[in-house]
Amino acid sequence: MNAARADAVAPAGRFARFIAWVDARFPLTKLIREHATEYYAAKNFNVWYVFGVLAIVVLGIQLITGIWLTMSYKPAATDAFASVEYIMRDVNWGWLIRYMHSTGASAFFIVVYLHMFRGMMYGSYKPPRELLWIIGMLIYLALMAEAFFGYLLPWGQMSYWGAQVIVSLFGAIPAIGDSLVEWIRGDYFISDITLNRFFALHVVAVPLALVLLVVVHIMALHETGSLNPDGIEIKEHKGPDGIPLDGIPFHPYYTAKDLVAIVVFLVFFSLVVFFAPEMGGYFLEHANFEPANMLKTPEHIAPVWYFTPFYAILRAVPSKGLGALLMLLAIVALFLLPWLDRCKVKSIRYRGWIYKLALAAFAISFVALGYLGLQPATEKVFVYAARVFTAIYFAFFVFMPIYTRYEKTKPVPERVVYHAE
Ligand code: HEM
Repeated sequence: MNAARADAVAPAGRFARFIAWVDARFPLTKLIREHATEYYAAKNFNVWYVFGVLAIVVLGIQLITGIWLTMSYKPAATDAFASVEYIMRDVNWGWLIRYMHSTGASAFFIVVYLHMFRGMMYGSYKPPRELLWIIGMLIYLALMAEAFFGYLLPWGQMSYWGAQVIVSLFGAIPAIGDSLVEWIRGDYFISDITLNRFFALHVVAVPLALVLLVVVHIMALHETGSLNPDGIEIKEHKGPDGIPLDGIPFHPYYTAKDLVAIVVFLVFFSLVVFFAPEMGGYFLEHANFEPANMLKTPEHIAPVWYFTPFYAILRAVPSKGLGALLMLLAIVALFLLPWLDRCKVKSIRYRGWIYKLALAAFAISFVALGYLGLQPATEKVFVYAARVFTAIYFAFFVFMPIYTRYEKTKPVPERVVYHAE
């Protein structure tokens, strides 16, 4: 936009002239219009639509607290554990920064899992948003890598043995497995070298990838436009001015609404940070308050809760190789969702009972696997239960092309359904 046009729309005065000066050199007003004041979102968003913005908030919290933690943390096998204790006891507000970061890790996964589930309910992965979903899945992979690398850094017993279990999974790959495990560790066992490289990946490489992926995610979202709980494309019904009839400008309407969600989220976040940062051993595992000891295996090794659904799938199968393969497939299946689902109707509101039932079974199996992954594998009943839920988890994807094709859907309304309060 040229300077004269920017002048015409902005309030007059010195500030307006400054903005015009910037606009002539950088598309500031243009960006604000395209992504906020003239980005039209459906007027019927519900609470499921706040988790995207909450994920951005958590990402911000993690980046800021992470930078501060790095100022006092020491990535060396001899010093790491003690440096975390030093942060907790001696660094001003160190305990707060660390608890915000550790709580932020779990909050990230809670928010992202709800965000993904919203996508599965309303068919957000269907055309034209397949790429948006794929980018989201890449974010999810990066997030898992970030959490995994970060967990080694306190160099506690769980850090050490958790990393040992996960890294050794790569050993299940035929032919190259053993060399690959050695290459990842940089040593014959998890050592100072491993800690140093995980630190580099955790504080530089993966955060960079995450931020870039989130930017690309939002770019893809603003290209297709957001969907909504009715699963109707608002761009298909535009007024004479070219504005979607069911759309409202993202700013100020959704910025104001999102602000409420952010405040509510921060209240819950603060409650955890101040009153239950360990969350009974789910957010910070008890065994991790003991320094890493390569000669003493903890009695019961379990990853943090957000990995346990996949860990339960791994343990459900007696063969380590097959277990690792299934674990991988459990994630690959999510990538394929846009192509497995053959139903034309997007939103669960107008889909048939089969999909509703299938999605409910999937959600229950995911939560149940998460619970089972936390339990000791010595109890046979947990292993059998994990097999049943693993079968349900995969059945959801494997039979999807069939049951979604013959699903009896309801008529989808022309325009979004919205009842003003
Ligand atoms: C750091 C993590 C993430 C951030 C910051 C993020 C951010 C956002 C934001 C701000 C939106 C728009 C608001 C909303 O619809 O909630 C959005 C939409 C979306 N995201 Fe994410 N996202 C993340 C992870 C993911 C993941 C892991 C997936 C799926 C695998 C995903 C899939 C989608 C889809 C499909 C939409 C469009 C939804 C619709 O229009 O109905 N996102 N994301």
